[in-house]
Amino acid sequence: MNSYIPKHVAIMMDGNGRWGKARGLTRSEGHFAGAQTMQKIIDASMELDIKILTLYAFSSENWTRPKEEVNYLMKLPVKFFNKKLPEFMKRNIKILISGNISALPRPTKKAVSKAVEETKNNDGIIVNFAFNYGGRDDILQAIRKIIENVQNKRIELNNVNEELVQHFLYTKGLPDPELIIRTGGEKRVSNFLLWQSSKSEFYFSDFYFPDFNKELLSEAIIEFQKRTSNL
Ligand code: IPE
Ligand code: IPE
Ligand code: MG
Repeated sequence: MNSYIPKHVAIMMDGNGRWGKARGLTRSEGHFAGAQTMQKIIDASMELDIKILTLYAFSSENWTRPKEEVNYLMKLPVKFFNKKLPEFMKRNIKILISGNISALPRPTKKAVSKAVEETKNNDGIIVNFAFNYGGRDDILQAIRKIIENVQNKRIELNNVNEELVQHFLYTKGLPDPELIIRTGGEKRVSNFLLWQSSKSEFYFSDFYFPDFNKELLSEAIIEFQKRTSNL
């Protein structure tokens, strides 16, 4: 077995609501616990020397949830970044956002844009939040931009290839994730990184995200190493 650490790991942080319910708490309390675990997983990823960590925090389908829950999920990044930004600066963490930011409520948009702007020159771990992200939306918005460029004759149709598409995706500039982990027991792709996951290894954990930890992340990486050692 090799000891190669995947450079880019993506996590579908699922199971917050069920975690809350199982404890007689609200779904939002589950999301709060999930945000605390997220911090621990960022720390663990740094310790494991993962270079890029993508975290699926809100999907383009999650708007259909009860209004109260959506409101809470839109407030969480504001609270999270207000509290954590100085520490992210100190620890050289670079924040990126993949998703349709323009559709977010103004305070949420402001908080995430500020986090990206302030950390843009940091060159430690990249923490990329997939927020208001959908894989189909990602491909669709890339198609629109490419067509616009072809119509304006800035790009020739003959030059539209995979590399060019990559350049227009929300994950522009990032290599594809080598490992995608989904917590919470479901074994679905739920519209995550459809283009980017073409060669990814998938790992499913039955633990609800708030219960996920460094040891479980390490187990996923060991499984990844076993699967890829004879490639
Ligand atoms: C994942 O947890 C986090 C978000 C989608 C924001 P869920 O909220 O989907 O929790 P479950 O799957 O209902 O338990
Ligand atoms: C996927 O979880 C999205 C996130 C983890 C943010 P969901 O709970 O929204 O997905 P479904 O509804 O089970 O497909
Ligand atoms: Mg879920």
